[in-house]
Amino acid sequence: MRLADDEKAMLDGAEGPAVAAAMDLLVRYGEALGADGLCDIRNVAGTMTQPSPVKARLVREGGWNKAFAVINLDSDDDLEIPHMRVPTCQLQHGFGEDALGVVPYPENMVALQGDAESFYGAHGVNILATCTPYQVGNLPVRGEHCAWMESSAVVYANSVLGARTNCEGTASTGAASLTGKIPCWGNHHEENRHGTHLIEAAVPVDGFLDWGMFGYFVGEVVQENRPVVIGDLHRPDLTDLKHFGAAAASSGGVELYHIPGITPEAPTVEAAFGGRALPEKVVYGERERRGIYERLNDQGRSTDVDFVLLGCPHASLDQIARTARALDGRRLSPGTELWIMAPRALRAMADRSGYTETIQRAGGRVLTDSCPAMSRVAPEGTRVFATDSAKQAHYLPAILGIEAWFGTLEECVDAAVTGTWRGDLR
Ligand code: F3S
Repeated sequence: MRLADDEKAMLDGAEGPAVAAAMDLLVRYGEALGADGLCDIRNVAGTMTQPSPVKARLVREGGWNKAFAVINLDSDDDLEIPHMRVPTCQLQHGFGEDALGVVPYPENMVALQGDAESFYGAHGVNILATCTPYQVGNLPVRGEHCAWMESSAVVYANSVLGARTNCEGTASTGAASLTGKIPCWGNHHEENRHGTHLIEAAVPVDGFLDWGMFGYFVGEVVQENRPVVIGDLHRPDLTDLKHFGAAAASSGGVELYHIPGITPEAPTVEAAFGGRALPEKVVYGERERRGIYERLNDQGRSTDVDFVLLGCPHASLDQIARTARALDGRRLSPGTELWIMAPRALRAMADRSGYTETIQRAGGRVLTDSCPAMSRVAPEGTRVFATDSAKQAHYLPAILGIEAWFGTLEECVDAAVTGTWRGDLR
């Protein structure tokens, strides 16, 4: 791999041993990927503060410097971690103190994470603590090279913002944060960003539920390729697009899609394909829509719902407001819990707007920082849950061994209030 002079200097230790270890990791990683060089970046979204038993042991043995060296730099050396070189944010991590007594999540992990926030905050990591950094101020511009983790965030950054990132890992984002570099391959190159598949919606795709189901279909069809979607598409908002991308990244491994006339790299269908011949289109019709709905509900048996989960990817302020409106003046069924996951910064706005109080008055919770799939927890005794998120319906039954129902936000709130699933596809 070719290295620029500043990269060679970092590798040779000109900026200290931690930066040299980071550069060494990036060179090994880039060579394994077949990259011919590194990109300059100034936006990293990674994970440093996520608590775990392994991290607890490393901190006991050598403090936070040791934990970062081993987990984020793949190095056993004694390194003093410097300040992050480029703007770096923490994605979702474990639950925080405010979830104690609500979420069955170990207290020692909450304490470990609190310490981690202090250490990494002092080293320049912005503790956004959300899988949707783009909702709370981290918005790379079109064409900007980044190093992001988290599949739902990566597909949003590439597709909706037109930024350029591969789906990075804990170590590569750690190394990127200290160097401002990442291997330049895959989505960083213009020629790898054009569409590969054409998918036409022959039924209306309108609203959060349908954008999620359509995304789930698209992911199944294209797997890790790049879909261009056309047809009866009603103009999506931020919330629809975050659901669409997260679903496509769950059923497949989509990191980049184009919606001609909507997403920035696709002014036209032809441009989305980079001027190449269009492939034969795959049609999403009534039969396919019904099939996806049934697939997302095939883990549901009992209609007795113990738990309702909203906010995956983390909820927008609009979604919190809609949840509050749907719960206003109502009360959750005894034995049923409702959690809506949100970025902490938006939770603060929901508090000020009165939405949190309305949700809490009904018996629900606005929770932050994490989610049941990431932290592998649900309310004690949960057997059946309902969600409006295709991603959670896809993952949570396997992670927690529970049944799942998938439907609209209003159907989920109805299930929380009655304790019974009554959803249906309209
Ligand atoms: Fe976010 Fe958890 Fe969903 S991290 S994308 S809320 S699975």
